[in-house]
Amino acid sequence: MNINALTKLSYGMYVVCTKDEKQYCGCIANSLIQITAEPATIAVSINHNNYTNECIKKTKEFSICVLGENVNPLIIGTFGFRSARNFNKFENIKYEIFEGLPVCTDSCAYLLCKLIDKSETNTHTIFLSQVVQSEITKDDTPMTYAYYHNVIKGKSPKNAPTYIPQ
Ligand SMILES: Cc1cc2nc3c(=O)[nH]c(=O)nc-3n(C[C@H](O)[C@H](O)[C@H](O)COP(=O)(O)O)c2cc1C
Repeated sequence: MNINALTKLSYGMYVVCTKDEKQYCGCIANSLIQITAEPATIAVSINHNNYTNECIKKTKEFSICVLGENVNPLIIGTFGFRSARNFNKFENIKYEIFEGLPVCTDSCAYLLCKLIDKSETNTHTIFLSQVVQSEITKDDTPMTYAYYHNVIKGKSPKNAPTYIPQ
């Protein structure tokens, strides 16, 4: 098996935002797809060790921020490489609240999602969710995972489902 064949799959770049009892939290995810149109549903794969996973299981809701190519890199650094277990990720990030969920102001679109079902793999939970509200918020080209790697020269940590050890 050539593991590099999997690098030919395409993805976007998103912040999956949720909350705990005290604060808003969330993480970067690229492993997200639309599953159906009517009703609109999506699925996102979140690592068991990510605090975001624990919070979605408790609240059963989350927002998706679609990141554009001109997004402030601080968003990717903050949400993709640190854990909200010991840090308030929204402290230095501009955001708005929609239906009780945070949305990064610098996103080019957002979706509000309610959990329908979940499925466990040995490392990640796949959250199947209905999109209950969505809006385009900024005129920017949505960032692809390939753009993040090839143009921005960004890295992916071990918790990303698409991580490939070098
Ligand atoms: C480019 C990129 C893509 C990522 N994709 C995913 C993903 O699809 N699923 C996931 O669980 N983690 C993914 N991650 C890793 C999480 O964002 C990261 O582990 C984060 O620090 C978890 O924060 P938390 O503990 O506050 O939830 C990705 C990170 C980056 C930088």
